[in-house]
Amino acid sequence: MRIAGTTRLAGIMGWPVAHSRSPVLHGFWLDETAVDGAYVPLAVRAENIGAALRALPILGFRGCNLTIPHKRTALSAVDRVDPLARRIGAVNTIIVMPDGTLEARNTDVFGFRESLREAAPDWCPGSGPAVVLGAGGSSRAVVAALTDAGVPEIRIVNRTLSRAEDVAHDIETPGTPITVHSWKEIYKVQRDAGLLVNTTSLGMAGEPPLIVDLLLPPTAPVIDIVYVPLETRLLTAARRRGNPVVDGLGMLLHQGRPGFEAWFGAAVSVTPKLRAAIVATLAPPN
Ligand code: ATR
Repeated sequence: MRIAGTTRLAGIMGWPVAHSRSPVLHGFWLDETAVDGAYVPLAVRAENIGAALRALPILGFRGCNLTIPHKRTALSAVDRVDPLARRIGAVNTIIVMPDGTLEARNTDVFGFRESLREAAPDWCPGSGPAVVLGAGGSSRAVVAALTDAGVPEIRIVNRTLSRAEDVAHDIETPGTPITVHSWKEIYKVQRDAGLLVNTTSLGMAGEPPLIVDLLLPPTAPVIDIVYVPLETRLLTAARRRGNPVVDGLGMLLHQGRPGFEAWFGAAVSVTPKLRAAIVATLAPPN
């Protein structure tokens, strides 16, 4: 990559930001498309997010991604929030508009939808209720995507029931009832399910394991949005009983596409070569 006076600029704001794979992801696409662009990590503390976002048009940036701890607080620091992002209550992509105003979007819904479409193309939304484990920020995007896909019902299983109730309240639409359940009900809610998604941090490297006996029909896709490790215990168990499986890397990669296309003006895709490049960054250090 060579930076010139004409180079288009974007990046990712987070604190910490060094762990983010987004610079590798966008760097891959910049090389592949030969766009004159650069995507840089921007270490921005929580208290500086408003000032940092306001600096984007001043510095000539096309926009940025946001990661922890900015996904919610940025909502009040921009000029416009896309209705979908408003509904989810979190944003991950900022676009600097031609007039210098800031528009915030949430591309996790797109990322989840595309990842599911790619890895479980035979899944039919009408096949049964969807079981969603977890009620954090990722759960909100997954629940919105499943609602929009037209699943007949969503069952959220979470340790803290009030958080699940908040998700249901914020995202439910008339066509898709959302019910909330404690972990004690994990077996009951699965039996007639058409899909199961883990959005909790359980099973992630360094976190407690996710221990669930799978009882759902073998045709139902099992999705884990955890991607370190890529093959989680949940996915191994699902694979063994013949369920279609969807790992967490697809969502991570696809969610980056809309931002790249808006900032750099080139369409990009998720290819095996890209997956391999990112997987290489996930390997634990020796
Ligand atoms: P994110 O924004 O990435 O989704 P989050 O908002 O911190 O992350 O949400 C983490 C999810 O994992 C929550 O559903 C959390 O359950 P609570 O809402 O009860 O906190 C769940 N989670 C994390 N650690 C857990 C544990 N040890 N047991 C059960 N659930 C856990």
